[in-house]
Amino acid sequence: MRLLEETQSEEEEEREETMVAQKLGGGFTQPMTKGGVVVGYALTSKKIKSFLQPKLEGLARNKGILFVAIDQHRPLSDQGPFDIVLHKLSGKEWRQILEDYRQTHPEVTVLDPPDAIQQVYNRQFMLQEVADLNLSDAYGTVGVPRQLVIKKDPASIPDAVNKAGLRLPLVAKPLVVDGSAKSHELSLAYDQYSLQILEPPLVLQEFVNHGGVLFKVYVVGEAIKVVRRFSLPDVSKRELSTNAGVFRFPRVSCAAASADDADLDPGIAELPPRPLLERLARELRRRLGLRLFNLDIIREHGTRDRFYVIDINYFPGYGKMPEYEHIFTDFLLSLVQSKYKKRVGKPVEEPLR
Ligand SMILES: Nc1ncnc2c1ncn2[C@@H]1O[C@H](COP(=O)(O)OP(=O)(O)O)[C@@H](O)[C@H]1O
Ligand SMILES: [Mg+2]
Repeated sequence: MRLLEETQSEEEEEREETMVAQKLGGGFTQPMTKGGVVVGYALTSKKIKSFLQPKLEGLARNKGILFVAIDQHRPLSDQGPFDIVLHKLSGKEWRQILEDYRQTHPEVTVLDPPDAIQQVYNRQFMLQEVADLNLSDAYGTVGVPRQLVIKKDPASIPDAVNKAGLRLPLVAKPLVVDGSAKSHELSLAYDQYSLQILEPPLVLQEFVNHGGVLFKVYVVGEAIKVVRRFSLPDVSKRELSTNAGVFRFPRVSCAAASADDADLDPGIAELPPRPLLERLARELRRRLGLRLFNLDIIREHGTRDRFYVIDINYFPGYGKMPEYEHIFTDFLLSLVQSKYKKRVGKPVEEPLR
């Protein structure tokens, strides 16, 4: 692997000096740098379309933030210089390039570290931190549905499900989430024998009745926003006893309309308590080492305060997060500002994050 050499350009040094000077001069409501905050982005064209909307770019420009496209095929050190690198591209080689860049350019904030992102691309590991956290306070409890990983041998499924004591129905999800449509093809199984027709590696997860409403919690640094979406309807005991087989899910998660205007049962549709979500987001930010993600959360039907996290996505479609332009641009500015706070208080040699 090619090593990226650390060479700080004169321009960059000058920029940093200007920034420190501005900080010391007091007040940093406006762009920190002479040229503003430069955000390099490496995103798929689909992501660029949904995220980098003219409204975002316009607002960013007013706040002194400039988005610059990264050319994946040229050395990163030759581009920029960047204050922040925003990325969501796949591939081992690209991950290595970013990791090397992080090592050699500690002054640049890479959103987010590639290793941390990897964890949420695997459904076995993605919910582990939520399970370990075991969050329970006066506002409610947050857990994960019980689940089982099947690496291979579909014939072993019925036995494995019995041994683990998993309750039917079960949701079967491909183990790895790689952005492909196939990795989001989910099935609902009413009996464990039918699962043998599916192809491992899989996660088998208990289906939790939740009244057909799901909460998407968007996290951008310290900011969170919750939106309601329609989800799968409950499965009744009767339905379970009279049905067998495995059924492909409709693409609920992307097709689901906003449930905000709908006339919903208040016991189900009431948003989860804000303090609980704040705490959950704060803990997960720290444990996962991520600043850009969202959570799919459901409230167990018949309860008021029993919640389950069923999915975590890195750098989700922020286009659907209300006011994301303001939240995102403020977040980008806050990153640069906190960097200078650290810099002013600490020896210059220390890596800045
Ligand atoms: N354990 C579960 N209990 C109830 N519904 C679930 C469960 N897991 C998934 N679902 C439903 O399936 C949808 C998609 O599942 P999810 O794990 O979010 O996969 P994806 O990666 O495709 O978004 C969810 O939005 C929810 O409607
Ligand atoms: Mg989801």
